[in-house]
Parts: sequence; C-alpha cells; structure tokens
Amino acid sequence: MLRTHTCGELRREHIGKEATLCGWVDSYRDHGGGLFVDLRDRYGMTQVVFNPPDTSQPIIDESKQLRAEYVIQVTGKVAERPSGMANSRLATGDIELRVTGFKLLNKSLTPPVSPNAHAQDMPNEELRLEHRYLDLRRPAMQQTLMLRDRLIKGMRDHFANLNFIDVETPILGRSTPEGARDYLVPSRVSRGSFYALPQSPQLYKQILMMAGYDRYVQVARCFRDEDLRADRQPEFTQLDLEMSFIDSDDVMGVIDGLVQKLAKQELGLDVKLPLPRITYDEAMERFGHDAPDLRFGLELVDCTDLAAKSDFRVFSSVATSGGKVRAINAKKGGENYSRRGIDELTEFVKPFGAKGLAWFKVEADGTLQSTIAKNFKPELLKEIGTRLKAEPGDLLLFVADTWKVTCKALYALRQKIGAEMKLYDPKTMNFSWVVEFPMFDFDDEEKRWVAMHHPFTSPRDQDFGLLDTDPGACRAKAYDLVINGSEAGGGTIRIHDPGIQQKVFSLLGIDEKTAEERFGFLLRALKYGAPPHGGIALGIDRWVMLFGGLDNIRDCIAFPKTQRASDLMTGAPGDVETKQLKELGIKVEL
Ligand code: AMO
Ligand code: AMP
Repeated sequence: MLRTHTCGELRREHIGKEATLCGWVDSYRDHGGGLFVDLRDRYGMTQVVFNPPDTSQPIIDESKQLRAEYVIQVTGKVAERPSGMANSRLATGDIELRVTGFKLLNKSLTPPVSPNAHAQDMPNEELRLEHRYLDLRRPAMQQTLMLRDRLIKGMRDHFANLNFIDVETPILGRSTPEGARDYLVPSRVSRGSFYALPQSPQLYKQILMMAGYDRYVQVARCFRDEDLRADRQPEFTQLDLEMSFIDSDDVMGVIDGLVQKLAKQELGLDVKLPLPRITYDEAMERFGHDAPDLRFGLELVDCTDLAAKSDFRVFSSVATSGGKVRAINAKKGGENYSRRGIDELTEFVKPFGAKGLAWFKVEADGTLQSTIAKNFKPELLKEIGTRLKAEPGDLLLFVADTWKVTCKALYALRQKIGAEMKLYDPKTMNFSWVVEFPMFDFDDEEKRWVAMHHPFTSPRDQDFGLLDTDPGACRAKAYDLVINGSEAGGGTIRIHDPGIQQKVFSLLGIDEKTAEERFGFLLRALKYGAPPHGGIALGIDRWVMLFGGLDNIRDCIAFPKTQRASDLMTGAPGDVETKQLKELGIKVEL
C-alpha cells in the first residue's frame, strides 16, 4: 500500500503520529518560504504543509512545481493546526500533515474541468461528460456515487433478508414490450435476425415464477430508445423483483419496508407505514396527473357546472359540449403574478394544449376581478369564489378544454406555481402509492386500446367481466411508487390464466398469430402450472436523484448519455468497420 491513511481520515487523536497520504492536489498556496497543499481523495481533504524546519529544503524546492491535479505521496507528522487556523468545515480541519517525505506520482495537464472542492461554478456539462474522469473527481459526484452504492447495497440486503434470490436474466433477448422503442443487436450467425436489448426483465421474471423461484430480485440494466428528459436515460437501472403467491398489498408491503429503512439510513427520516395510497382516479381529479407531488396543495377544482351558467363563450361552449372547466386557486398569488406574470403563465400552458388561461384576482372585499368578469352574473362569481375557497389576494386560474388537456395544462401549471411560490420545502420527502390504474388507455391517434402498464397486468378480480363489456372502466392490480411527484417505481399483479392473457392480447389488437410469434413461450409456460404472481421495478437512478436532492439524472450515473443518447467521453455510438457490417449482412443508407 502506498498510503497509511486516506485524506479524510486523520483527526486530533493522530496528532504526533506519522502518516503517509496519497491524493490529488486540490489547491496550493505558496507562502514564499513554503507551500500549503489541500490534498484530496474520495474520502476527503487534508492540509499538507511543506515548511521548514519539518520539511527539508530540497523537498520544498521540489514542491514548488506542484499544480492542480498532480498526484503525490507525502509522509509526515500529524500536527495540530496553529491556534485560530482550524477549519471546522473540514472533517480533518483540526490537523495538518507536516511533510518530511515526498514523491511526485504523476503530473496533470491543466484540467479543463476543475475537480476543485471549493469551485463555485458548475463547469459546462459537455466538458464534464467529455472529461468524465475529472468530473467524477469532484466531491459532489463522489458523494452521489457513494449514495448510489449505499442505496443499492441497502436494497440488496433488504431483499436478501426476505429470502429473495438474485437471478440474472439475458441482455441479448427478444423484445419485451414496455412501450418504448427497442435497441436492436444484429445477429451474425442468423443473418437478418436481431436480438433486442431488454426494456426490462419482465417476461423472464414471470417465467422464473413459473419455474418455482418464488422470490426473485435483480439489479437490472434496462434499455429504451425513447425521447430523453431530465429524469430519463436510454440505459438505466432497475431494482427488479417478482413474487409468487401474493397480492398487491404484499408487494407494496416489502417496498414500504425498504422505503422506511433507506429513508432512515440516508435522510434520518422516520417514515410512517403503511405509505399513503391514493387511487389513479383521485390523483387525476385532484392533481391532473398519475404521479402527483403531494408536498403541497394547489389542487384542481372542477367548475364545469358553474362555467355552463356563464355568458363567457369559451366556458359555456366547452362546458356544454362534454369538455371540462377546471381551476386552481393560487393562494395569495395575486401579489406574485402581475398582469404580465399572468400573460407568461398563459403562454406557459399553451404547449400543453390549452388555448388560453382565464383568471380572476380576488379583491380585498372578496369580489372577483378580471377582464372577463362582465360575462358572469354577480351571484355566479360568488359561487365560483365559494367553490374555490377564494380569499382576498388569491389568484384563480382556469382552463376550459377536453378533460385530458385540463389535466396536462393544470398539472404543469400547479408544478410551476408550487415551485415559484415556494409552497414546499425542497428538502421534505413524500412517499406514496398511486393504485387502481385503468387497464387500458385509448390511443386517440391509432384508435385502439393500449396497455397502461404492460399487457401482462391483471385486472382487479371484480373487473374481469368488464373486459367484455367496458374495457375503459376496467381497473388493474397496478401500483406506482411516487416520490415527490416523480414515478420512482411501478408494478402489477400479473395474469396467470392463459385464457385471460389471450383475451387481453386480443383487446390490445394482438391477434393469435402475433401473440404466438412474440409471446408463445409465455402462453405455453402459463399452461404448465403458473402460480399467481406479481412484482415491481424501482428506478434506481431516480431514487439516487430524489434521495440526493438532485435535478438531473445524468449526475446520478457514472457514465451517462446526453440528450442525443451519446457518450461524449468514448464517442459512442460510433462508426464500425465495413468488414463488421458485411459479416452481419448490413448495408447502411444515410
Ligand atoms: P416501468 O416501465 O414502470 O416498469 O419501469 C419501472 C421504473 O423504472 C424507472 N424508469 C426509468 N428510469 C430512468 N430512465 C428511464 N428511461 C426509465 N424508464 C423507467 C421508473 C419506473 O417507475 N417491467 C415493469 C415493472 C413491473 O411491472 O414489475 C417496468 O419496467 O422509476
Ligand atoms: P379571448 O376572449 O380569446 O380574448 O380570451 C379571454 C381570456 O380567456 C384570456 O385570458 C384567455 O387566455 C382566456 N381563454 C381563452 N381560451 C381559453 C380556454 N380554453 N380556457 C381557459 N381560458 C381561456
């Protein structure tokens, strides 16, 4: 070993002892006679002093060449810092190492991305990704990757204690339908055939249940070629599990226990169990979204019946033609949003499909004031105020449109106003379940039913009949874990009856031939004694983001992809040799 201690280890109790440290020069200060270096590794930072008489003159002379990110080995005596020089913000801040031995282990070019622990400015992200080895030296990144490690270890321990066994499933497989586009890998041996990288281990884990491995868990890599966002990566990691002889409550129960344990371990929070549950219908009604942020109110209120009675054509026509008029009351928002502010909110909701944003400000006497107020009788304004619990200073905001558009626009508006008006403490954590999702969603463009989760999800027992009569009303045994308005996990109880599986496929427009081609192995396995089973997958990258209070999933992954799904450090995806393409029988057309 080239060191006796790490750069985060030395304390008062080591004073008087000799130690050898290795690390990177975080910063250096030349004091004429000698040099002060902050030496950094992933454990912390120690002040290292090159000064006479402890340090010999040749070493002091040599030390003058040190620059940022040089790698050095220093030996010396641990000493108390002179009085008044202790640094309480540093774990090693009471001591310093007075150098007696020194070795330059390696030099560094001037780093284009500074790993300096005290640097205020976040370097440009493209540079960070290109020089990831430097970026990953930054203490913030090291803290995040260590948090990630502890979360994964905590998950593994939790499930091992509950008798789950870890089984690996293939990366080269057949496409499993999670709804995104597949990444394909051409086969050389079977020219013209392709493997698909797994979007999740969904079908393999179900097969494992049929094979009798009643509690399976895996830290599984998943690949989805979809449009990227701040919380999505094309290659991400799930904590994937499946259980047999259980119902929804059992799956939610093991996750509840995990949440409680990790929230205590990482955040010092005492989370009460069971975690609160709300139904999908309630979530959509109150928040316009199936993963609502429950850290603040600002709930959606339906005013369609009142809108129908007004002379404001936008409202009355939408209300009488099957649309919805819904609103939020931004409490005390009148002061926060001027007329220009409201114009900005109006532009903000338009990309979500809203044609406009109607508003009222609540005056000191409680009356509602707006450019559109003349279209409403005073009694009607009163009713609207009562419905929205309006008080002086409030700002009432309305969207009239289809139900879907009111959900999307007002959900986004709620998020924006909640953040802008600081309606919640970003440090608080809210863990909850959204349950009883619809089985199917109607795809307006393709004019057909699509699975809300995936095609292997079981309807609730009482809803089996609805598969024939009213699929849209059919509710699934499905549950999503939501942390601070982010979908942190999702799962379902699966269908274990081949007949019902067949029926769900046909409702989804998957005919018998296609079902046989793509899922024949599953349909056959279901016929050889498949146990009742279900499971869930947690988005580990998102857990790291949420537990770390971060807002970008790329900061939670050692080597992430950009918005354009490329790796700026290695240059992937990249060209391949013509010979390789020939072997695969592939011609590239650009
Ligand atoms: P689902 O598709 O809901 O379910 O995925 C489970 C969880 O994985 C996370 N996640 C992602 N994280 C980062 N980037 C992405 N592109 C991404 N996509 C999903 C989310 C999500 O809740 N097989 C089912 C699980 C099951 O039914 O057991 C599945 O994959 O946090
Ligand atoms: P207009 O009559 O088009 O000038 O609109 C009057 C007000 O109603 C403006 O504040 C618009 O932003 C708003 N508005 C227009 N369409 C809608 C709609 N579909 N839902 C809510 N408000 C709307």
